[in-house]
This record gives sequence, C-alpha cells and structure tokens, in this order.
Amino acid sequence: MNTKKMKIRSNLNITRRFRRLRVTEPLRSMVRETELTVNDFIYPLFIVPGNKIRKPVSSMPGVFQLSIDEAIRECSEVYSLGIPAVILFGIPEHKDEKASEAYDENGIIQRAVRAFKKEIPGLLIITDVCLCEYTSHGHCGIIKDGEIANDESVELIAREALTHAEAGADMVAPSDMFDGRVRAIRTILDENDYPNLPIMSYAAKYASAYYGPFREAAESVPQFGDRRSHQMDPGNSNEAIREVEQDIIEGADIIMVKPALPYLDIIRRIKDRFEMPTAAYNVSGEYAMIKAAAEKGWLDGERVMMETLLSIKRAGADLILTYFAKDAAKYLRDESS
Ligand code: PBG
Ligand code: ZN
Repeated sequence: MNTKKMKIRSNLNITRRFRRLRVTEPLRSMVRETELTVNDFIYPLFIVPGNKIRKPVSSMPGVFQLSIDEAIRECSEVYSLGIPAVILFGIPEHKDEKASEAYDENGIIQRAVRAFKKEIPGLLIITDVCLCEYTSHGHCGIIKDGEIANDESVELIAREALTHAEAGADMVAPSDMFDGRVRAIRTILDENDYPNLPIMSYAAKYASAYYGPFREAAESVPQFGDRRSHQMDPGNSNEAIREVEQDIIEGADIIMVKPALPYLDIIRRIKDRFEMPTAAYNVSGEYAMIKAAAEKGWLDGERVMMETLLSIKRAGADLILTYFAKDAAKYLRDESS
C-alpha cells in the first residue's frame, strides 16, 4: 500500500515548480518583474476662477474643481507625497466661439502656472493644450461651415501652447487629435526660444465613452455632435501606430495612449514598436468605475486600484496620468514603512 503511493509520487517528476518562488513575500518581491513607483504618476487638476473654491466632481469621488489658492495647497500635498508632476486643465471665466481665454496670457491656466511655479518650483507643471474647455460649443477646435476646422484650430492651439510656455510650464500636452498640431507647437516653441520645452502628445487618443466624468469636471461636453471626426475609432490598432509615428516625426518627446485599461494592447504595441517614453491616461471613467464599485462594497477599491495601475505599467507605460496618483502614492509610502 505504502510503496504504491511512493511510486505514484515519484512518477509525477515535476521539474518546474513555479510555486517555489511564491512561498513568501520576500521571494515574491525578489522576482517581481514590474513594480509601481511614485515617479510613474502624473496627477490631473481642474482649475477654476475664484477664491477658496473646492467643488466636488460628483462622478469622481475625491476629485475637485479648485481655485488657484486651493490648488496650491493641493500641489504642496502632491509634491510632498513625491509625485513628480501634475497636469492642468482649466475652466475659464468666459467661453466663446474662438476659445479666446485658451491663448490669453492672463487666462486661468496661464495664471495658475505662474502661481504654482512661484510657490512650488520643484513640482513639474504640465499643461493640457486643447480648446474644448474654452469654446462655447465645447468642441476641441473652432467651427467653420458646420465642421471642426483643422488648420485654423491648430494655429490657436499652438498659440495656446506658447502662452503656457511663457507662463513657465515645464511641458505641454496637446490633447486635441487634430492633424499637424505637434509640428505647429514645436515650431512656435522653437521660434520663441523654447527649444528645450518637451511635448507630450496625446498621440493615440480614442473616441471613448470613458471620458464622461471628465467632461463634467472640465465642463466640456460638446453641445452638439461628438469627437469622432478627430479622435480614433476604438476598433483600430494599426492606425495607432501611424498616429504615434506621425507625432514622433513632428517632434513629440513623450507619446500617450488614452484611455489606458481598454487599450492595454495598444500601449504594448506602441512601446515595443517605438521604444519611446510612453504615457497612458487612466481616464475619468476608469477611475469612476472602481470608485463606484468600491463604494458599494463590491470590490476592494485599494487593491483594484493598485492592480489596475500595475497592469498599465506592465503593458508598457512608463508614465501614468491618473486621478489615483495621491491614493496610490500613499499606499506605496505606507507599504514601505
Ligand atoms: C480634452 C480632454 C479630454 C480628456 C483629457 N483631455 C476629454 C475629451 O476628449 O472629451 C479626458 C480625460 C479623462 O477622461 O479623464 N481634449
Ligand atoms: Zn479637447
């Protein structure tokens, strides 16, 4: 009886026992291939005019529209957590057909950048460059003959980027997805003595339903139509290669895929193909889904947050724009102490 059992066991002859390296946490951490660090994160902020304003965004628990004074406090916290960068979105005083405040040297973002660079000089300030928060109709460009006009919009977007640079921004991030915008921005920056100011382009940005909560936060819901004439079709993958390649040719320093979670395959293809510094935007809808399920007690919000961010990095992202940045930074800090 006993000998028979022994025989069966030795016949198993397992040469590879993967479980050997999973036995304890020190072993697991020694062989872990991907790890998140606080240096991976970029934290988005929504800046509104006024004073002492801290208005919750209902579809994004924990996210607020902040006036510049409040945002300075927020930035100090972000900085002390070790998060290297923020990306700014502005909600202007006035919207109009031409998005005038987008490229006004005293616009909301231009003022915010000056204040942040003065108060927290070590924090990297990236500005989102687009017109949709500034147009009365909510589109990313200006409308001509009922259509979003590419070249005229690109001109204004380049001017907007220049005013951000003049205010002291450390990097500009065009999110419009119009053709030729990276070249236009690179040219205007170079001509005005900003040859070293990097561009992070939203290179493969999909026409996604995951942007819903952001449009509440940024007050940028299109008043008619949608963004499918310039953002990418969710079914396309090869086209993402061509979009990214074009932005690199035009002078992008960092390329971005957006959204992140439903497009992990795109992040991986882009990283393998171009070996460029690659960012991924873990967008508002991705954040809202996890927050909502966690609030209901349906899943462990903290663990799902960390697993999600890790998956984005594992897919090939070097940088992650995420509303979870502060929470994840705190998690990493507490875990290591
Ligand atoms: C605007 C812009 C959008 C986001 C970043 N910049 C929304 C859009 O294209 O409608 C989305 C970010 C998010 O959902 O978190 N150009
Ligand atoms: Zn836009």
